[in-house]
Amino acid sequence: MKKKDLSIDFCGVKCENPFFLSASPVDNCYDMCAKALDTGWGGVMFKTIGFYIADEVSPRFDNLRKENTPFIGFKNMEQIAEHPLEQNLEDIRKLKRDYPDKVIAVSIMGQNEEEWEKLAQLATEAEADMLECNFSCPQMTSHAMGSDVGQSPELVKKYCQAVKRGTSLPFLAKMTPNIGDMTVPAIASVEGGATGIAAINTVKSITGIDLDKFIGYPIVNGKSSVSGYSGKAVKPIALRFIHDMVTNDKLKDIPMSGIGGIETWEDAAEFILLGATNLQVTTSVMQYGYRIVEDMIEGLAYYMEGKGFNRLQDMVGLANKNMISAEDLDRSYIVYPEFDEEECVGCGRCYVSCYDGGHQAINWDDGNRKPVLDKEKCVGCLLCENVCPVRCISKGDIEFKKGCKPETVVL
Ligand SMILES: Cc1cc2nc3c(=O)[nH]c(=O)nc-3n(C[C@H](O)[C@H](O)[C@H](O)COP(=O)(O)O)c2cc1C
Repeated sequence: MKKKDLSIDFCGVKCENPFFLSASPVDNCYDMCAKALDTGWGGVMFKTIGFYIADEVSPRFDNLRKENTPFIGFKNMEQIAEHPLEQNLEDIRKLKRDYPDKVIAVSIMGQNEEEWEKLAQLATEAEADMLECNFSCPQMTSHAMGSDVGQSPELVKKYCQAVKRGTSLPFLAKMTPNIGDMTVPAIASVEGGATGIAAINTVKSITGIDLDKFIGYPIVNGKSSVSGYSGKAVKPIALRFIHDMVTNDKLKDIPMSGIGGIETWEDAAEFILLGATNLQVTTSVMQYGYRIVEDMIEGLAYYMEGKGFNRLQDMVGLANKNMISAEDLDRSYIVYPEFDEEECVGCGRCYVSCYDGGHQAINWDDGNRKPVLDKEKCVGCLLCENVCPVRCISKGDIEFKKGCKPETVVL
């Protein structure tokens, strides 16, 4: 296959591919960023820098498991960069010098207007290509920073204006998902001068409780606290926020960086199809390392080839026209499940779920150990397809409600 061009313009900056590390420990210093860029990442969003130097806790992570699958979601208690500001700026300067063709973006966080302006100025002087305002860390020890700021459109606008005074570089406003309507602070950030939006930062969470000690995880000398959740489990939340923003009239032309649970090329493609032109990743890198970008690049290139997209830009936002409101969905037909008897292992999961969580529309053939559909009772919810562990249930016959027959049906 001819090498596919994954380059894309993001906020006026040319990116060799859309894959960036998001601000976090994965791009905390020169050596880490250099290794990642050598592995193929298109850019880095250098871990949030500020005048405030974080004093971190130990331990600081927890993860959600289900049926022994770890890392379904990941909880962290980290704040911003632990290294001195001067050292971070030096690393940024050196990165741009050694990687002129990669995008060296820098996340910043101030405590007041003066700090935001100064940080923007310092990162610009360090030759960064782009900035990102961290309005969204949910576990800062000061309420003058992080997601408390991101929930206030007035502060978001004011701090964006301060950043604009300190730089002529493009800059993103990174949104908190700990809010109902993200379009409100996003619009405020654009009014304040932000070039683009990044979403999402982590979701406030308690991942679990130690049942002997009655303490949440992770346990920090006998106590715990609410903090940010990331990884695969938050992807649906992130996708929904990206969709909300790109379909908002005031934001539709604003570049979006999609973040949250990106682990595979399929995840990446989903964000792009909903309108993101840049992608940022942390948790899956913390779990598997920088090399995942190789699979993401290759997979995305194959997908584009198969679909006939010549440029990444050609697929941006294509899925939004097919996301409509609940009242506009076609309610005129029922899709019945089809069971592949050859593939079915006779586990009975579809039968149990249909009985206990559906409409009692699957009977169990004890002799054969196979499901038998009762069409009279089936409402076509396809819970059975969702629970089947061997994926032997697919969409089968369609029936239309009386008097309805749409011209096309897309399953
Ligand atoms: C350990 C850890 C530290 C993080 N530190 C920062 C940070 O300094 N600045 C920031 O904007 N986001 C920070 N984040 C949030 C990530 O950049 C990202 O928005 C979030 O984790 C969702 O993406 P993911 O699911 O790919 O991890 C951090 C996340 C983790 C897991």
